[in-house]
Amino acid sequence: MSLLDGIRGLAELELANQRVFVRVDFNVPLDGDRVTDDTRIREALPTLQHIVDAGARVVIGSHLGRPKPGKHEGLSLEPIGARLSELTGWEVHQPDDCVGDGPRKVVRDLRAGQVCLLENLRFHAGEEKDDGAFARRLAELCDVYVDDAFGACHRAHASVHALPRLMRDRGCGLLMQKEIAALGRLVAAPERPYVAVLGGAKVSDKLAVVEALLAKIDALCIGGAMANTFLAAKGFDMQASRVEVDQLPLARTLLEKARERGVDMLLPTDVVVASSFGADAGEIVDVAQIPAGAMALDIGPRTVERFAARFASAATIFWNGPMGLFEKAPFAAGTLGVATAMSAAPGFTVVGGGDSAAAVATAGEAVAAGFKHISTGGGASLELLEGRKLPGIEALRTAEIA
Ligand code: 3PG
Repeated sequence: MSLLDGIRGLAELELANQRVFVRVDFNVPLDGDRVTDDTRIREALPTLQHIVDAGARVVIGSHLGRPKPGKHEGLSLEPIGARLSELTGWEVHQPDDCVGDGPRKVVRDLRAGQVCLLENLRFHAGEEKDDGAFARRLAELCDVYVDDAFGACHRAHASVHALPRLMRDRGCGLLMQKEIAALGRLVAAPERPYVAVLGGAKVSDKLAVVEALLAKIDALCIGGAMANTFLAAKGFDMQASRVEVDQLPLARTLLEKARERGVDMLLPTDVVVASSFGADAGEIVDVAQIPAGAMALDIGPRTVERFAARFASAATIFWNGPMGLFEKAPFAAGTLGVATAMSAAPGFTVVGGGDSAAAVATAGEAVAAGFKHISTGGGASLELLEGRKLPGIEALRTAEIA
C-alpha cells in the first residue's frame, strides 16, 4: 500500500484543450518585488511544462504569505508571475484576482498551451476557511484539477481540499508524486539504521514528529536551540542560552522514551557560544563549560564529527531544522557541516524543507546534489512523517478507491 494509491498521475488525465487548474506552492521569499529563492517555482516547472505541452489551457493558483483581511500589500503574485515568465519564456497572463469577472475573462481567452497565474488565493477569506462557495467559484474556471503544491497539502484550505473534491477529473503533479514517494518511504518502510537529525528553535514545534520518529529510528541527533532544552533537562548549566523552561519535563520524558526504545540520543558535546546574537565571532566550548553570561548559538566541530560518524553508516537519514543561527556567518559552521556530511553519506538522505533546505542551498550546488531528496514542504513534510493523513493528499483520491 503506497500513499499514492488511488491518486491519478498526469498521464491518466485528459488534458488537451481542457482548462486545467494547477495548484502550486509559489509561497516563495520576496525582497520587494524580487524573488530571492525560486526553488519552489523551478520545482513545479516539469508539471507545468507537461500540461502546456499537452495543449491544455493552464490556470495556475497559489497562496503567498498570510495576508490579513484587507491587507494585501507586498503579497501580490505579480513578481512571481514575472519570474515564471523569465524562467520559461511563456507569456504569463495575470488577472487581478483569483475569482470573478477578471479571471473568468482571462481564462476564457486562453488558447491551448497558454498560461495564466491567478492572484493570491488567500486574498479571499474563503480560501483558509475551506469554504465551499469559494471553491465553487474556483471550479467555474476549470475542467480538470492538478495538485502540485506539496508544501501546502497539510492545509485543509479551499484550493487544496474543497476544490478537488468538486472535480471529477483530478490528480497530482510530478513534484507532488516525487515528494510523496520519497517521504512515504520514510513512513512505510525506512531501511535501518535510520538516523534523524532535528534542529530549530523549539522542542514544542517538533514534539509530534519526535514521538512518531522514536518508533522507527535508531538514533536522533539534536542541534539548534532545541538542543539547549534537552541539555538543560540533563542538568547542564546552559547559562544565557535560549532554553524552554516549560518544556523541561517534556524533554526529560522524551529522553526516557528514547532510552526505553533503544534509540541513541546524540546531543551536542561542544557548542559555539557568544554573548549576543549580534556577536561577530563565537568561541567553541565544551557543553559542561559554557562561560557565565554566554549563549550557545551553534553546535561545535566535535559534535558535527559525532553526527557525521552516524551518517556514514546509516541507510536512511532525515533532517529538519538548522543546527544554530546559520544565517549569521560565525554560527553557520555546524549547520553547513551537517549538510556537507549528510550529502556525502551513502544512505537515503532526505531534507524536510524550510530552513534546512535553505541551509543546503547555502552550502552550494555540489552539496545539494548529494542529497537523495530535498523537500519543498516544511510543515507538510513533518506532518507526513508524523503519519498523519494530509487533507490535500486525501482529497485527490478517486471516489471509486477511497
Ligand atoms: C509553507 O511555506 O510551508 C507553505 O507554503 C504553507 O504556508 P503556510 O504555513 O502559510 O500555510
